[in-house]
Amino acid sequence: MMKRKGIILAGGNGKRLYPSTISVSKQLMPVYDKPMIYYPLSVLMKAGIHEIMIITTPHDQAAFQHLLGDGRKWGIEITWAVQPSPDGLAQALIIAEDFLDGSLCALILGDNLFFGSEFDNALNAANHNPVGATVFGYHVNNPEAYGVAEIDHNRKVIAIEEKPEKPKSNYAITGLYLYDGHAPKYAKTITPSKRGELEITTLNQIYLDRGELNCALLGEGTSWLDTGTHKSLLQAAEFVHLMEYRQGRRICCPEVIAYQQKWISKDELLKLAEPLRKSGYGEYLYKIAHSVS
Ligand code: G1P
Repeated sequence: MMKRKGIILAGGNGKRLYPSTISVSKQLMPVYDKPMIYYPLSVLMKAGIHEIMIITTPHDQAAFQHLLGDGRKWGIEITWAVQPSPDGLAQALIIAEDFLDGSLCALILGDNLFFGSEFDNALNAANHNPVGATVFGYHVNNPEAYGVAEIDHNRKVIAIEEKPEKPKSNYAITGLYLYDGHAPKYAKTITPSKRGELEITTLNQIYLDRGELNCALLGEGTSWLDTGTHKSLLQAAEFVHLMEYRQGRRICCPEVIAYQQKWISKDELLKLAEPLRKSGYGEYLYKIAHSVS
């Protein structure tokens, strides 16, 4: 089985969250009790991916590095890159070409939040499929805000459209994409769309045309939230708060996943917990380190 590397795209100017994101990157804003980027990072780590490139704007990179460093504290290896201007999601594959060096990859958007065991299973299954591309469809109320999949009666994707005025289904394509080793090469053939971006939907269309696009439809066992507007950011924070308060378990903590993956020891987890104890986050890590399960 070929190794899969991860890419988190955390660029963009976050204009829909202005003025909050004038001086702070959107993906560093909190979603309840932790920075937004912890959520997509958790997704990759849970899938066993520990070589990860994080792409930011040039001016935000230092703040991300201050937070995450080289990743070693969590048993992962972070490579840093910049996207000089927001020229589209597919550009991430071009930026990451040397880092990927022909390997399989998972690209996740820095503002997407996934949660649920159904999702974990779907990602796990897709992760083991080295052929073509896999995208994940999720039934939403407002498909026109997303890439949308047209699906036939066998639940197969027959077309995908970026932010269509008249969506052909309610299935949004979420911000997590698994690709084979050809993605950078295909991405380079894309020309900018009307909004001036190298669209990820165009890259997915290339795989679809080749008969190599899988679309896993996520159901009720998955929560998928995005955080691009004031309202959706607040809703995501409320969701995390509700889940954590109800269950007494924090979700999407990279430190906990690193420990569960056995990438860090109990002593290392305790060391990470210490400076975070005043916020309660460290207390939770401390509890995990001392729990039996
Ligand atoms: C982007 C993609 C879109 C996808 C969405 C997921 O939209 O272009 O296909 O459904 O992410 O969050 P954007 O963030 O550019 O609005």
